[in-house]
Amino acid sequence: MKTKAEAARRIEELRELIHHHDRLYYVENRPEISDAEYDRLVRELKALEEEYPHLITPDSPTQRVAGQPVEVFASVEHKVAMLSLDNAMDPSDLREFEARLRRALPGAAFEYVCEPKVDGLGVALLYERGRFVRGATRGDGRVGEDITQNLRTVKSIPLTLRGKLGELRELEVRGEVYMPRAAFQKLNTELEEAGESTFANPRNAAAGAVRQKDPAVTAKRPLDIFLYHVSHADPFPFKSHWEALEGLRAAGFRTNPKSKRSPDLEAVIGYCQALEVERDSLGYDADGVVVKVNSLEQQRRLGATAHHPRWAVAYKFAARQATTRVLSIEINVGKTGALTPAAVLEPVELAGVTVSRASLHNEDEVRKKDIRFGDTVLIERAGDVIPYVIQVILSKRPPHAKRFVFPDHCPACGARAYRPEGEAIWRCTNAACPAQLKERLLHFGSRRAMDIEHLGEAVVGQLVDRELVRDFADLYHLTVEQLAGLERLAEKSASNLVEAIQKSKTRGLARLLNGLGIRYVGERAAQLLAAHFGTMDRILEATEAQIGEIYGIGPQIAQSVVKFFSESANRKTIARLRAAGVTLKEEGIGEGPRPLAGKSFVLTGGLKAIARDEAKDLIIKLGGRVTGSVSKKTDYVVLGEDPGSKADDARRLGIRTLDEAEFLKLVGKHPLPPHPTSPQWGEEKR
Ligand code: IVH
Repeated sequence: MKTKAEAARRIEELRELIHHHDRLYYVENRPEISDAEYDRLVRELKALEEEYPHLITPDSPTQRVAGQPVEVFASVEHKVAMLSLDNAMDPSDLREFEARLRRALPGAAFEYVCEPKVDGLGVALLYERGRFVRGATRGDGRVGEDITQNLRTVKSIPLTLRGKLGELRELEVRGEVYMPRAAFQKLNTELEEAGESTFANPRNAAAGAVRQKDPAVTAKRPLDIFLYHVSHADPFPFKSHWEALEGLRAAGFRTNPKSKRSPDLEAVIGYCQALEVERDSLGYDADGVVVKVNSLEQQRRLGATAHHPRWAVAYKFAARQATTRVLSIEINVGKTGALTPAAVLEPVELAGVTVSRASLHNEDEVRKKDIRFGDTVLIERAGDVIPYVIQVILSKRPPHAKRFVFPDHCPACGARAYRPEGEAIWRCTNAACPAQLKERLLHFGSRRAMDIEHLGEAVVGQLVDRELVRDFADLYHLTVEQLAGLERLAEKSASNLVEAIQKSKTRGLARLLNGLGIRYVGERAAQLLAAHFGTMDRILEATEAQIGEIYGIGPQIAQSVVKFFSESANRKTIARLRAAGVTLKEEGIGEGPRPLAGKSFVLTGGLKAIARDEAKDLIIKLGGRVTGSVSKKTDYVVLGEDPGSKADDARRLGIRTLDEAEFLKLVGKHPLPPHPTSPQWGEEKR
């Protein structure tokens, strides 16, 4: 049993450990402990803080997502104005930059630092005595918006600083928040899966995330940051920009590993040209190089104009933009019935790729940009992302250019389309819409779902058009003869396809759930559901509350799952899949006993041998429920260490209490040694 003072000490210790491992993982990319060990530290801290809530401080690693949604962001006046940068388009502009420096400081020798100009959002972070107290957007440069709660969720932003910088009374640093390309692609896939509108590029996605009103949403968006400037420190501890970057790193900030000191301008030019060649392999969007005079004394003497510092310049990479004409606007129908507009373009070369389509995302986007038929538009291709329309060149608009009116009918099946209030997306309401069915079948057979080889677009199109397949289950009844009758499908390919379809029967519950295309249920949610329930039958029986209790599954997913399985057509499909011999359970989980069915539990106090989340999951897995407070309907109250008022409630209401050992026995778990944790049970994954 821990005394209060012991608990306080342990809390401090855990926080330091977690901060340390966060830095190793998020900033330095060299973790020293396993995810499971890390999770154990976090859980121990959470449990202690739950017991001693008055010891929770805002810089605790558990508090990264603690803020409440806000209505509007407060204004923040920056300590030092956030200026923009002067541009250099080619080496001769860089030489001109140096010539200006020479004129301003005759006889001086200059050393430079080159850094990738990351295409994200500039932010200012304020620390007081090493604690993160405020984060703000650039705004108009003088006044920005307070986005502290959102920035706290970015794991590579340290909440407390180490070393020298951690001791300063006040420190303001600047950096660029961005979304790594891979994370951006993944986010867009997930949004698409959920039938929501996607982002045009990583920058927009990052901007959207940073300006979320609800920090819990930001926390789910994979943001990262590079720090590149110390704008205020008292006393100022560095003599050069390079030292400042090293100092930032030592304090626990992430700085760009591509930053480089350059002894002279020729080295700068070499760096700029080399980075431009490399730009696609950086993993994030960079639109240029920022070149800075290294000496801070020289920087001070050079000063700034009203718009930009004289000691820095942004070398811009060649834009991957082009202008072309909009020939028409097409509507694509997704697997959940989402209608997405795309511009069909006059083909144009864009940095080695011929572009003939651009995503237009949704109705509002088309309206906002006022894209009309025949318009000449500026398009951009960033990384390997689908090109998008930046703007219309109004001066080239043909007279009487027709406005685009979003169709109120599905272009594929003619059924009425509607746009739910508060949503950006129009949807086709027809569950039997062939376009949806085609997309759903393609998704069902995709690699991460049922993994049916040879089930491509051409085949699926014909299967649906010829009404050979009306739902997923029909796939399993297809014969070689039927398939061989399709266009461009030889007998051999037909039998390969039948074989591939039959092979997919045993993929297991998680892949099947993913394949069903339930709104909001992507790969991860499908895995959590499968791991938790083990069989389709249990999922069919589950209530929204039971599903929502799974760690990592929110109410939106729970609601969507219940809605999906309450539709009789979907239940019929499941029954037909079962009849066809498709596996409806997850290997290794099976249909275990449910000894706690209908029993309601309350957990209170710290558990030693088992984490609280794990205990919860166990109860749910065995059929029970876990609630937050003790009532007459509670069956058991599990008392850990220092249980607090819930134990009194239990006594008062005469409810059966269990100590930890009794509880573990009840759920059939041996208290020692501590059980190896399995991520399937809803560990917090990093
Ligand atoms: S230095 C006085 N360094 O580019 C310091 N800016 O157009 C000025 N940016 O608003 C900024 N990477 O958001 C600097 N390595 C880098 C940068 C960088 C991206 C952004 C920043 C700034 C904009 C200037």
